[in-house]
Amino acid sequence: MENETAPMIIATTIAQVRTQVDAWKKEGLTVGLVPTMGYLHEGHASLVDRAVSQCDRVVVSVFVNPTQFAPGEDLESYPRDFDRDCALLRQHGCSLVFHPEVSEMYADDAATYVEILSEMPRQLCGKTRPIHFRGVCTVVTKLFNIVTPDAAFFGQKDAQQLAVIRRMVRDLSFGIEIVGCPIVREADGLAKSSRNTYLSPEERRSALVLSRAVALGQRLVAQGERSAARVTAAMSQLISAEPLARIDYVSAVDGESMLPVEQLAPGVLVAMAVYIGKTRLIDNFMVEESAP
Ligand code: PAJ
Repeated sequence: MENETAPMIIATTIAQVRTQVDAWKKEGLTVGLVPTMGYLHEGHASLVDRAVSQCDRVVVSVFVNPTQFAPGEDLESYPRDFDRDCALLRQHGCSLVFHPEVSEMYADDAATYVEILSEMPRQLCGKTRPIHFRGVCTVVTKLFNIVTPDAAFFGQKDAQQLAVIRRMVRDLSFGIEIVGCPIVREADGLAKSSRNTYLSPEERRSALVLSRAVALGQRLVAQGERSAARVTAAMSQLISAEPLARIDYVSAVDGESMLPVEQLAPGVLVAMAVYIGKTRLIDNFMVEESAP
């Protein structure tokens, strides 16, 4: 059967997903998974495109996962538009969208979590969001168990999440290929994010300070600067000059362990989280192998 002509399946139960994936596997088809929380944009679409190019069938999950939000975070207000998500996913060749209710994913008395017990998930975003990566690892493990994909696709925009997932997959021997995909940006540089919809027009202009700081950091590295402290200080200074911006962190860390580094060498991640008004935005760049 030609996938291009097959209608996209919308599944709300785990059983439906398992039945469909079993059927595909019996046909010898490979399956890719793109986990999302919905309110999809071109960043998500780029992951779907990558998955479609690499796998015979692509499953996209759309699930705002409560276990990765702390009380007082934006779980309730997180933007949702499932019909629009489905239209985008159809255009990009998704085979099945998995859109479960919270009760389908978590029993009332669910008490089992997947957690990395090292410093790694406590660095960077883990400092202000201490239970976040435990929730991410738990839900991604569940999605891996439900979909049993050959490969799963994650954005470099959430660089710490990508590193955490890679570590979890290694430590728990999932046998799933983890594919990292580049950051997709608006024309003016702002990294695409579902949370950009929270920004007022004035905040939207201020939010450009993140990508400007990334560009500044990259320029300094390209000019030969190797001091992590000097590069992050210059980026912080640029951000601090923006009245609506409040820095959560600007850090240079090892791209795998997430531990702080002093020297900017290939494989180092320079990452930031910045509040623009009440909205917390993230951006980052990796120091490239080609750097002198
Ligand atoms: P969500 O924020 O919806 O992001 C889903 C995937 O899209 C993530 O892998 C993220 O890195 C990627 N993504 C988001 N914006 C991007 C951009 N501008 N460019 C490239 N990729 C981008 O991340 C989550 O959901 C959740 O934590 C999840 C993994 C689904 C677990 O609940």
